[in-house]
Amino acid sequence: MRFLAAVFSAAFLSGYLVAGEASLPAPGKSGGKPVLDAIADRASAPGNAFPSGKISPEEISTILWAGSGLNRPDRWTIPFGMGVRPYVRIYLADENGVHLYKWDSHALDRITARDIRSAVNSQPFAKVAPCVLVFVSDRTSLRERGRMDEHWAKWTHAAAGAMTQQIYLAADSLGIGARYVEGMDVGLLRSALSIPDDEEPICIMPLGKR
Ligand SMILES: Cc1cc2nc3c(=O)[nH]c(=O)nc-3n(C[C@H](O)[C@H](O)[C@H](O)COP(=O)(O)O)c2cc1C
Repeated sequence: MRFLAAVFSAAFLSGYLVAGEASLPAPGKSGGKPVLDAIADRASAPGNAFPSGKISPEEISTILWAGSGLNRPDRWTIPFGMGVRPYVRIYLADENGVHLYKWDSHALDRITARDIRSAVNSQPFAKVAPCVLVFVSDRTSLRERGRMDEHWAKWTHAAAGAMTQQIYLAADSLGIGARYVEGMDVGLLRSALSIPDDEEPICIMPLGKR
């Protein structure tokens, strides 16, 4: 099992898994820095000295799980209104392209091989970050309860806030710097990720190991 995990990690890091869905290693669900210490230490990584160290597949797995993974058979690490399926997607952009986080299978689904990190944000720190998370609404599960898009927009913004805050804390616990960034090239994201007009890129979050 350990050997398979090592092979997977090597394949993942080298970009060998170029098509389809790739499983993530199991997330770390215990230990780390006590949560109150992580709250006390929470800070955005500085834009003028953004950490650029590589992040391991295990760390990415834990960060994505903290953002919107399952922590009960039918509920998630952050609250989703009415307990419906997550209505904000997380995309992981790194040197190998962009993957969609599949919370149901805890896997990554390849969307494009294009490296969009430096294009998605003009600020220099996005260029040194080894990966950038992109948060995009997916109101499908909400619209199943009725078409109320202005109302549902608030819900997706609330979810993105909870997801990014939880990622700030998980990242701090792992020694990873993170920064919530609203400034992004929405047009580029829409075309690179095929985001429909009635869905919305909400923010991005560059990450780097300190
Ligand atoms: C809604 C929101 C939008 C933000 N947008 C940007 C941004 O576009 N660019 C940037 O460098 N930082 C951005 N930030 C990061 C803030 O500048 C940062 O959180 C703030 O300076 C407070 O620092 P702290 O997070 O260390 O407490 C944003 C933060 C929030 C919450």
